[in-house]
Amino acid sequence: MSSNALPKPRPSIRPRTVRTRRIAFEYPPERLPRHYIGGDLVMSHIVSVLSSLFPEGEDFFVRTVRNYRDRIDDPELKSQVAGFIGQEVTHGREHRQFNDRLATMGYPTRIIDRLTKYGLGLDEKILPKQVQLAITAALEHYTATLAEVLMSDPEARAMFDVDEVRSMFLWHALEESEHKSVAFDVYRHIGGNEFRRAMVMRFTSLGLVGAIVAGTFLSLLLDRSAYNPARLFPSVGRLRHSPWLRREVLRRLRDYNRRDFHPDDNDATELLAEWKVKLFGAEGALADRMKSPEPDVPGASTAKGREALG
Ligand SMILES: [Fe+2]
Ligand SMILES: [Fe+2]
Repeated sequence: MSSNALPKPRPSIRPRTVRTRRIAFEYPPERLPRHYIGGDLVMSHIVSVLSSLFPEGEDFFVRTVRNYRDRIDDPELKSQVAGFIGQEVTHGREHRQFNDRLATMGYPTRIIDRLTKYGLGLDEKILPKQVQLAITAALEHYTATLAEVLMSDPEARAMFDVDEVRSMFLWHALEESEHKSVAFDVYRHIGGNEFRRAMVMRFTSLGLVGAIVAGTFLSLLLDRSAYNPARLFPSVGRLRHSPWLRREVLRRLRDYNRRDFHPDDNDATELLAEWKVKLFGAEGALADRMKSPEPDVPGASTAKGREALG
């Protein structure tokens, strides 16, 4: 490179609110059936596997972004990173608690958690930090895409027929969509290579799909209902019509490989505004859990605030 070559201009960061919400969920044992995802055998195991991957996965996301904290000089991005870290730490804590409950129901959440920790620890030992950050950006594209399916597709939501579980996944989904571009923008901000980003996505997809398939297989092996062909085969068959495996969803996942892709290309502004009201608004499903009111939702308050109002 010649000495007078100008550095590439950094893309500007679109302002967004990434807020760390203080919230906690509780799962009364009598309200959790063994196959808590619409009574569906395989989907209950897949969701449990995903939940088991989250705590260690999200700790990894936080570390890989934190590695570059000192190089982020854009105040907007800096504040988004702080919100991203706060959100992911809270997700990890809430999924750990949920996974403990799943473990008592017979799901192998602990072993999957340990294997995830081992696998991601190995990645951190052997891979360059920029590749680790690209893995986070790729996985964040998966979480945001699946999250937006949950928020936009009533059929997907209908499978979560236990209120507390649906609320927890919707809260997580909303925040995944809210911060979907943060790791991606950090990657671009530090001069991350676009070709490498797409390559890393391919390997990450293989790893993620492999982990979900292997985890689900293991989880099913430990469930006596899975040995009943009348339960197993129809449940496997229903996967073909799963809202998460629609062609449109797969197209959106693949869109990440486009050279000029940005997570905001799939604009979720309206979807987020709608769900903030549905979850945190005055009549919102989670209004009574919030320890502080949601600032940009009209009429939002906390349980304590409403008690004080009588
Ligand atoms: Fe998360
Ligand atoms: Fe995330």
